Amino acid sequence: AVELSLRPRYLAEYIGQGKAKENLKIYIEAAKLRKEALDHVLLYGPPGLGKTTLSNIIANELGVSLRTTSGPAIERPGDLAALLTNLQQGDVLFIDEIHRLHRSVEEVLYPAMEDFALDIMIGKGPSARSVRLDLPPFTLIGATTRAGLLSAPLRDRFGVVSRLEFYNIDELAFIVSRAAEIFNVEIAGEASVEIAMRSRGTPRIANRLLKRVRDFAQVRGDGIITHSIARSALELLQVDPMGLDHIDVKMLQAMMTTFAGRPVGLDTIAASIGEESQTIEDVYEPYLMQIGFLQRTPRGRIPTDNAYRHLGYPIPGRD
Ligand code: ADE
Repeated sequence: AVELSLRPRYLAEYIGQGKAKENLKIYIEAAKLRKEALDHVLLYGPPGLGKTTLSNIIANELGVSLRTTSGPAIERPGDLAALLTNLQQGDVLFIDEIHRLHRSVEEVLYPAMEDFALDIMIGKGPSARSVRLDLPPFTLIGATTRAGLLSAPLRDRFGVVSRLEFYNIDELAFIVSRAAEIFNVEIAGEASVEIAMRSRGTPRIANRLLKRVRDFAQVRGDGIITHSIARSALELLQVDPMGLDHIDVKMLQAMMTTFAGRPVGLDTIAASIGEESQTIEDVYEPYLMQIGFLQRTPRGRIPTDNAYRHLGYPIPGRD
């Protein structure tokens, strides 16, 4: 129950993502005034920035039910048909990882999104015919790490496309303080900021770090999260002051040593550290680029001077 209440339920409680929030607020209000279903919404951006939370909020604000599923979970067109025919007027269907929908399922989704209709094939062979079934008007919310992973016809069927951004330190510190209040633990302002700085712009990480710091405060202290308790706990957790984890570090180190800072391709980096290219591109690179540690050039990726300084490696041709 605590886990659930950690997630804000209404837009007014939701911190950050100002642009997305402001726009959604207007579209939700307009849909309600017209008593229509909200247009389909595509949310994209790195993991942990609140795509699932926002879809819950959208359904709450609209006063409708939310059905949640994910691209890979919908194996056959019939699975999608079952979901769609169980929706009530105006309901929200949330499909996480929508870029992983099977082609055959995606084709059923097009008329459903566009005309609120389901085309079902009856029978096989020469006597097969297609029957069109009406669906209640509904809102599809699709979530993906990158909009570019979607096929163009699917992407084009979303009336609202919203990119979620990394949170700044103030926003994350606020989220940490709010979560601490929900957990009923006392936390110093500097401690919230300390956790915020090490959370890679990501609320999911901030809340996870808060839980570990709270454990530390309870066992090693008197339960109050002071700045010094937060720092010791984060040190023990081996969370880097910039929030880098061992994969970020491994990746940057490989670029600085194995590849001597020369431009290197994504697949080459991935192979050299034994990670998936897509994970690097969707999860690791966006944050490293955001903090100015990694640059993408036409010839490949290179670490920046700041990255060399942070990891304590000499800058090639300089030091
Ligand atoms: N918890 C996680 N994400 C949040 C957000 N954006 N606003 C408030 N609380 C949150």
